[in-house]
Amino acid sequence: MAVILDGAAVAKKILQKIASEIAQLKITPKLAIVFVGNDPASEIYIKNKLLAAKSIGIGLELVKFPSETPLEVILQSIGTLNVDRSINGIIVQSPLPDEFMQNIVFNSISPEKDVDGFCSVSIAKLVRGSRDGFIPCTPLGIYTLLREYGINLFGKHVAVIGRGNIVGRPLSLLLSQKSPDLNATVTLCHSATENLKAITQLADIIVVAIGRKFFLRRDMVKPGAVAIDVGINRESSDDPSKKYKIFGDMDFEDLKDICSAITPVPGGVGPMTIAMLMQNTLEATKMQMTKAGGANRNRTDG
Ligand code: GUN
Repeated sequence: MAVILDGAAVAKKILQKIASEIAQLKITPKLAIVFVGNDPASEIYIKNKLLAAKSIGIGLELVKFPSETPLEVILQSIGTLNVDRSINGIIVQSPLPDEFMQNIVFNSISPEKDVDGFCSVSIAKLVRGSRDGFIPCTPLGIYTLLREYGINLFGKHVAVIGRGNIVGRPLSLLLSQKSPDLNATVTLCHSATENLKAITQLADIIVVAIGRKFFLRRDMVKPGAVAIDVGINRESSDDPSKKYKIFGDMDFEDLKDICSAITPVPGGVGPMTIAMLMQNTLEATKMQMTKAGGANRNRTDG
């Protein structure tokens, strides 16, 4: 039976640590979330971010726009948040109504407040392996969860399935960085990958981030491999007390006795992503305080 990588428990511990650090700060860190449209999954993610922020003393400002809002209006709002000294971190909830717009909007966030790590400066730093940029929250959460359970990445073969800009691609960049705690050999697999099974069967660690229920099955996995499930697939529930049921990109029951370790869905990578967002927001706040003269700043905002 695999070790269950309990992201919910690890995230809770990290959030407690962040809360005690925030209690020592002279200011209340504040995160702005820009939300365009009404994607139901995004609404749930935002609610979870809001609850986590509130529980640890991070202030949250939700800036909502209807889906037909012109790009210039969104850019102007981000411009205002960029120069607002009471705001320490800014994220734009993905997906936006179109991908072209998404890239422009992500790029308009000041790198100092880019706590999701999606702007070009943050991505360039990740590509170069410099450690002073913000790392996207899900890749950082996966790395942190593996480290917490003592799962070594050095020299290991990691198969990442999914090349999306939020998880797969930045994760492949992070894990392959030249560093004693990383140094993995990463194969980034995607929809055009030929003979995927031959690749995953070689992997020591498999990460799936494609949004397809139960995509990874036991015949694709080497015995003893570590399985990390990033999928959140919602289906309406038969249980009248619940609106929907969540499934991962892996068939947990099928995999749990062939893997050495596995993340559950829910309660695996999801809570880690939120904890890392809070961690990045704290880091952004501390950096901005240092730059602005630290304790000499006189702020009373919440
Ligand atoms: N949509 C799904 N995951 C994420 C995330 O980590 N950040 C943002 N901004 N949008 C998302």
